[in-house]
Amino acid sequence: MLRTVGFVILSLAGTVAFGQTFHPDIPRAWDDKAVEGFEVPLAQRDRSPRYMTAEEYYALKVRPIYRSYPAYVEGKEPAGYIESLKQKEPEIIFDASQLRTKEDWIQAGKIVFEAENSFSPARPGTAGTRIPAAFSTYVSTDGVLPRFVPGFSYIVRQKGVLEVGSNSCAGCHTRVMPDGSFLEGAQSNFPYGKLGAPPTSVSPDTLRRIQDSRWILFGAPWVMTKEEFQKSITAEEFIREAAAFYPGIFGRQGTSANHPARVPSLIGIADIKYLDSTGLVRQRSMDDLMRYAIVNTGLDITAHYGDFQPAVGSTGFNAEVGTRFSDEQLYALALYLCSLKPPPNPNPLDDRARRGQRIFQQQGCAGCHTPPLYTNNKLTPASGFMVPDDLRKTDSIMDISVGSDPTLAMQTRRGTGFYKVPSLRGVWYRGDFGHEGQADSLEEWFDPARLKEDYVAKGFHLGPGPIKGHEFGLKLAPDDRQALIAFLRTL
Ligand code: HEC
Ligand code: HEC
Repeated sequence: MLRTVGFVILSLAGTVAFGQTFHPDIPRAWDDKAVEGFEVPLAQRDRSPRYMTAEEYYALKVRPIYRSYPAYVEGKEPAGYIESLKQKEPEIIFDASQLRTKEDWIQAGKIVFEAENSFSPARPGTAGTRIPAAFSTYVSTDGVLPRFVPGFSYIVRQKGVLEVGSNSCAGCHTRVMPDGSFLEGAQSNFPYGKLGAPPTSVSPDTLRRIQDSRWILFGAPWVMTKEEFQKSITAEEFIREAAAFYPGIFGRQGTSANHPARVPSLIGIADIKYLDSTGLVRQRSMDDLMRYAIVNTGLDITAHYGDFQPAVGSTGFNAEVGTRFSDEQLYALALYLCSLKPPPNPNPLDDRARRGQRIFQQQGCAGCHTPPLYTNNKLTPASGFMVPDDLRKTDSIMDISVGSDPTLAMQTRRGTGFYKVPSLRGVWYRGDFGHEGQADSLEEWFDPARLKEDYVAKGFHLGPGPIKGHEFGLKLAPDDRQALIAFLRTL
């Protein structure tokens, strides 16, 4: 006993001696003053979201983070596993009072990143046991699915009650690398759309439910009335959209089922001034990353867009209703996100890549994709958007439009009228290029054939049609194009 105490005292003294104790300066994340100016106004300015007040927000209950347990592939589950889980006591795994060093906080942030925030009763025999064969890449050799694949882990929040969770950050922001390792923060490539066979028919009841939930997710009455919107979602349309699922592309709430947004990489996020492809969020400091997490786990669904409120209730269905993160959880999460590092780049800056680097300069790419971040952190207007004068004073705006499809920027709840200039760092380990991820590879992004009317995109698409705009680099000779791409892959 004495020995243990002695050891603890020694190790604490050691920590202090090496100056590792960390005094986190945790802000009040949902501060009314700070929330003002957090976002760029929407293109339809009077529809810019008004969120709940700090008083309302802090009245919500904090969601503790409980330990979760892996699901197994069919046939691999140890005998009595489910019964053993039912015997487990709930265990809270995020406890800010135990965190000492900055590294402790970062590791706790990883727990928040991987934590599910939406729960439903587990039905052993379905969740985790009917994993399609196509998912074998995602399963470790002992048949265990990694914890963060939503819907494939059990959570015990109350003894004897098994639940499955969904909607963790990790679920959408983790990439399976070619060697089978998982890279957290990178763009998702998990084939969620292949969880089941694509639907071939939809019952009228199901269709009505889909229409209702779609209105909450995507409704924008200033673009289309509820009646028109719901009529546009026919059974055929739903089947077409379900079949078009593409890894890394999500119709996140506030975007559109026809014009979803691709998942960006969060590695290097601290350097990025505007968040989301439409530059909706101004990242003025790390605190805004905390606010981003709050808004995107359901607060946006309960915001008022003029007189329209998509969902009434304390928080939307993207998180457990009536709950919120604690500021400590959010602070840890933001520290974790800012700590993410890219994997070692295997692509050498050889002669060909150096030639590509010169082409990059000659073609004027660096004016927008400025080194060393390979973005100038500016907004470009979508086709047809008239930039309001006041925004020129408050924001970094270029006058040139790259001419890509304007729908996401102009006709959605995330639509500011702009697209940001994305960073080109790390393009070697991601795909889904352009804000909708229509181009599957850099080769496709720089292929002039993509402008043709009857073009069929290799990335996300609902049918034939061009990948519009961003014509930079499309007129290069094939050799030069290859060199340019070789250079981009070194970033
Ligand atoms: C359902 C999938 C999904 C989940 C869950 C999710 N994200 Fe995202 N995330 C996206 C998509 C899609 C975008 C792109 C949105 C856009 O461009 O409008 C995005 C964008 C972002 C961005 C902006 C990055 C940039 O460079 O523009 C940040 C930051 C972010 N997510 C953090 C988080 C955090 C933190 C969580 C957990 C609290 C989370 N996300 C959960 C899909 C998801
Ligand atoms: C006027 C500014 C501008 C110039 C010049 C420019 N780009 Fe871009 N680039 C953008 C914008 C804005 C986007 C995002 C477009 C969208 O998503 O609709 C983009 C997207 C990209 C993408 C896709 C990245 C992703 O994450 O989806 C690549 C690759 C790219 N540019 C490379 C280049 C190269 C190479 C050049 C020079 C040949 C170039 N760009 C010139 C503004 C520019």
